[in-house]
Amino acid sequence: MHVKILGAAAGGGLPQWNCGCQNCADARSGEIAGMSQSSVAVSADGRDWVVLNASPDIREQLRLSGLHPPSRRGSPVRAVVLTNGDIDHIAGLLTLRESTPFQIHATAATLAILEQPVFRVLNPALVGKQAIRPDDPFEPLAGLRLTAFAVPGKVPLFLEEGEVKTDLLGEQTIGLRIDCGGRVMFYIPGCAAVTPDLRDRVGGADLLLFDGTVWSDDEMTRTGTGVKTGGRMGHISMAGPDGSLAAFDGLNLARRVYIHINNTNPVLRPGSQERARVGAAGWEIARDGQEILL
Ligand code: MLT
Ligand code: MN
Ligand code: ZN
Repeated sequence: MHVKILGAAAGGGLPQWNCGCQNCADARSGEIAGMSQSSVAVSADGRDWVVLNASPDIREQLRLSGLHPPSRRGSPVRAVVLTNGDIDHIAGLLTLRESTPFQIHATAATLAILEQPVFRVLNPALVGKQAIRPDDPFEPLAGLRLTAFAVPGKVPLFLEEGEVKTDLLGEQTIGLRIDCGGRVMFYIPGCAAVTPDLRDRVGGADLLLFDGTVWSDDEMTRTGTGVKTGGRMGHISMAGPDGSLAAFDGLNLARRVYIHINNTNPVLRPGSQERARVGAAGWEIARDGQEILL
């Protein structure tokens, strides 16, 4: 299985257009590497690819990752699979509008969001929509078997109303298991909590790509960038007793990599103590352009 990290950042990217936090400033000056928004590509043969989440940065991501047209018109991207309806995961579909066929796979709840008129720009004669049912495997490409499962999360920001539940287990937020040639990876870019079921499910995998949005729940306040907690955004923290470092501690995983990293996260600073703690716990921090062969 071939895996390419197209974008390792959370929504907003690094630097984010309106953010003057230390990480964003350092990314602008070149002190730390910038990162584009949340997307991963997988392939069984290195020729045809499935893109997991279509980020607003997809145009540059496809250019930089070598996913180029094989002929005068066309693309090696044969399918796009969505894990939720957030802007950082669906807006890139609008870039894929120039009359090349591919399939979109998403839950019924996420497909309903794509019913908004602007998405009619994707010609239905060329771009098919397939409903994903949790725990019902599908093969978007021969040799790649995907199984979706519900993970705790919330509705997209633009559908929030009244009191927002952040631990919904349903079709709003899914994780993906990908089986290919006997190898197994999990892709879970958004997750509000690690339940015992989730821990059991991912145990033994060759690769876990997991929600690394924030280090601490109060990170936005700490960095003076906002007031929302990680939990309110539907993202588990890395640190703390309920964090992902603790939740996956001791679990058998050949490789564990944080992705969907918010620009405020101190692990993005190479010399930080948070980065050292994550590394000591066996975690890697994904970077744009990273390629993994399983
Ligand atoms: C998230 O992961 O929390 C979202 O991408 C936030 C957003 O839509 O900007
Ligand atoms: Mn996001
Ligand atoms: Zn920032």
